[in-house]
Amino acid sequence: METSGPGALLLVERRDRAVFLTLNRPAAANALLRALVAEMTRTLGALGREIAGGADLRALVVTGAGDKAFCAGADLKERRTWTLDDTRVFLGEINALMDALAAFPRPTIAAINGAAFGGGLELALACDVRIAADSAEMGLTETRLGIIPGAGGTQRLPRIVGVAVAKELILTGRRIGAARARELGLVSEVVPAAELAAAAARWAAEVAAAAPLALGAAKRAIDEGLAQPLAEALKIERARYEEVLVTEDRNEGLAAFAEKRPPVYKGR
Ligand code: COA
Repeated sequence: METSGPGALLLVERRDRAVFLTLNRPAAANALLRALVAEMTRTLGALGREIAGGADLRALVVTGAGDKAFCAGADLKERRTWTLDDTRVFLGEINALMDALAAFPRPTIAAINGAAFGGGLELALACDVRIAADSAEMGLTETRLGIIPGAGGTQRLPRIVGVAVAKELILTGRRIGAARARELGLVSEVVPAAELAAAAARWAAEVAAAAPLALGAAKRAIDEGLAQPLAEALKIERARYEEVLVTEDRNEGLAAFAEKRPPVYKGR
């Protein structure tokens, strides 16, 4: 897959073994035009196929261009031109994007560089880890617009921060700063804005050092298990364990421990 050109809606860059996806509409607060949603979904599909084919990609970072916005959510100007049925179709498309991101076979890191509202925060909620610039603000503001979060927010936010905090944020439509988001467990790290890209690269390098199949299996065990009662969820964990038990990387982990050296995982 080619790296997108500078004018593209989505920039795709490879750094070491990580892929950085940058929403690239800084003049429109990186709002999710339908074409941008389509481009992200297409790109995630292509990356997933590369990984399935053996490409050594170990982490995905999602961020926004510029220093003001990560993503201001759905493009409300575009939406004004739509019929209700157009909006219904778009809801299907944006949820397909969120689901593809949530199911991405490698760890995903949202690097929230600025405002993340509505669908913008939902994009970050579909990632495994969120880190933020100290200047970032976030919120699910939809009820203030007469709608509700429609790209997973009512379901993913309570799973991340708990029901009480999710209701607080969704029912008020409040905008909170990065420090408060850290206190609530919504983001895992807050850094000065100028250091966000380096922090994202650090997270990506940290997960890249682990066995990629194990990370994919652990992520699926958590996500699939959360949708089930405990007894069923534990069976899911066992099934995902079985997948990694038969990998070369599992043997490499044991050998490296015995030989007192860092493991070299191959994703096999
Ligand atoms: N859809 C379409 N365009 C948007 C947008 C959105 N969701 N959010 C911002 N923009 C546009 C603005 O209209 C403006 O365009 P203009 O220059 O043609 O007027 C441009 O992006 C920059 O936004 P502006 O508000 O001037 O910049 P800012 O840095 O002061 O504030 C935000 C950025 C994101 C904080 C602010 O625009 C905002 O609160 N947007 C609404 C976010 C929201 O509630 N989203 C929920 C969607 S369900």
